[in-house]
Amino acid sequence: MSELKIYPVKENIAANALIDDAGYQKMYEQSVVNPEGFWREHGQILDWIKPYTKVKNTSYDPGHVDIKWFEDGTLNVSANCIDRHLATKGDEVAIIWEGDNPEEDKSLTYNELHKEVCQFANALKAQGVKKGDVVCLYMPMVPEAAIAMLACTRIGAVHSIVFGGFSPEALAGRIIDSNSTIVITSDEGLRGGRAVPLKQNVDQALTNPDTKCIEKVIVLKRTGGDVAWTEGRDLWWHEITENASEQCEPEEMNAEDPLFILYTSGSTGQPKGVLHTTGGYLVYATMTFKYVFDYQPGDVYWCTADVGWITGHSYLVYGPLANGATTILFEGVPNYPSTARMSEVVDKHNVSILYTAPTAIRALMAKGDEATAGTSRNSLRVMGSVGEPINPEAWEWYYRAIGDEKCPIVDTWWQTETGGILITPLPGATALKPGSATRPFFGVQPALVDNEGQIIEGATEGNLVMVDSWPGQMRTVYGDHERFEQTYFSTFKGMYFTGDGARRDEDGYYWITGRVDDVLNVSGHRMGTAEIESALVAHEKIAEAAVVGVPHEIKGQGIYAYVTLNAGEEPTPELHAEVKQWVRKEIGPIATPDVLHWAEALPKTRSGKIMRRILRKIATGDTGSLGDTSTLADPSVVDKLIEEKAKVV
Ligand code: WTA
Repeated sequence: MSELKIYPVKENIAANALIDDAGYQKMYEQSVVNPEGFWREHGQILDWIKPYTKVKNTSYDPGHVDIKWFEDGTLNVSANCIDRHLATKGDEVAIIWEGDNPEEDKSLTYNELHKEVCQFANALKAQGVKKGDVVCLYMPMVPEAAIAMLACTRIGAVHSIVFGGFSPEALAGRIIDSNSTIVITSDEGLRGGRAVPLKQNVDQALTNPDTKCIEKVIVLKRTGGDVAWTEGRDLWWHEITENASEQCEPEEMNAEDPLFILYTSGSTGQPKGVLHTTGGYLVYATMTFKYVFDYQPGDVYWCTADVGWITGHSYLVYGPLANGATTILFEGVPNYPSTARMSEVVDKHNVSILYTAPTAIRALMAKGDEATAGTSRNSLRVMGSVGEPINPEAWEWYYRAIGDEKCPIVDTWWQTETGGILITPLPGATALKPGSATRPFFGVQPALVDNEGQIIEGATEGNLVMVDSWPGQMRTVYGDHERFEQTYFSTFKGMYFTGDGARRDEDGYYWITGRVDDVLNVSGHRMGTAEIESALVAHEKIAEAAVVGVPHEIKGQGIYAYVTLNAGEEPTPELHAEVKQWVRKEIGPIATPDVLHWAEALPKTRSGKIMRRILRKIATGDTGSLGDTSTLADPSVVDKLIEEKAKVV
């Protein structure tokens, strides 16, 4: 039903937007007919030190996947995000910081940001950080997180940000894989009134003997909470920047030099280090930010994502700053201290563009009028959604309750791997259908394929692939190019496979149906079932585990874990709590199972493969249609599981 609902572009919005529907059609056409010419022109959205002469050099051929954009150009990311704005916008606000506590805030102009970034860049240099070194950031949401990112780019260091909600074990794994030489952290973070012991987590991570690559730990004083100190290794941020010079010449980087590594979950094994490079990534982040949010001078832009996720990289820091925008960095959570906090922040800072996630929208929607009480949100002009499919009910609520029916919603589909938004409406160009990410951005060529890899046309449903490259595409899995090819280019030869399924309607609009692989999306956070399973079986009392996703009203998906205990172990309530706690400790709070199902045995085929299809159905209570169970080694396992399900808490 809701699919029939269409919200045409309002005339006043189309008239004032950067681009209308005819403009979109024309530019899109150019971008796919002549990608080379299109990107040659639009690469100029950045300032280059040495202009590129080559534009696109990409191959998806099996065994030879190679992606290069603007390969002979040179530039510096921090110069594009800061220096080039100084002449005209030096005194304009670059970053507004809104604290967890509503009484704490501050802002930094572009001039101030320049000074802080140069000082910290010089401090990093003084600690021996060189071009190409990997610097790990494990930071709360404070301006220094953005300053540290930009300082790395200024000197050509590669940052690897680890979300502050990850556990010491997860942090250690990422430090080891990326071979980081420095960790930047703070004494504690602050979220929803609670302190997060970041420095303590770093200390713990560094007890892992394989983290020897770390030479220094730079600690920002945020809360003033007590921290342990390792002389010779630990340094205070304020002490090393105190006397640092306020000038730091930006390093000339090649377009294909690494910019950052960001770990993300896949369907198998350990998280992968997604590698993005300098030129193509920044061109794409800058251009998508401008058009997708219809950014215009004077806008105040707020993206609620954490810097630890790709959205925090592309649309909290790099895209907005490269456009010379004012970006809000929010330390807290959308419903603290009051349910209306998000709306209050919008009013307080006159936010005109708001970019948030379905899980936050649904959590607020559940509170009804409380979420907007006492606020006007009059400043809002454009609203965005990202991270997971937005259900039409949540879309409608966002549109009515938050946006007062005057703001177009851009439902942006993309991935850590894609660097920037690939499928999205444009505010002045695209008629909206609640729940649809609508149409491809410029230069993006999506297609749907069946399970044999045949492209299927027209209104249909299938696996979502990209048939050609765009500048923001990841270049490799850090240190493992073979895994890159295997993961993304081997399922359907010659195409980039997204891991998502999608439907395309008669108007050519895409409706993302969710992951088709063993990747969960819990509150917009990606997690591999394999990752959670290996954390579970690492517990001494657990013999086997299988994890499936189940629908969850607020989180989108919840984690349902089947656990088989070692012989002789009893499934007590204490063990139940202990196992949940164990997963929190191994990965982080976001991976805590919602449901633990003590299973006597798991359904396996004769060759020993767990039949997840059956586990998914049992978890959702859909036991009337289990399908063929005759290939199971022991079909009676199924009845047993259904029996046990009744006892699950
Ligand atoms: C899902 C986040 C539907 C999708 C930027 C994708 C979405 C995964 C949307 C990537 C959307 C993201 N509609 N699904 N608008 N945005 N997804 O790497 O399954 O954290 O593959 O990047 O999130 O998650 P990631």
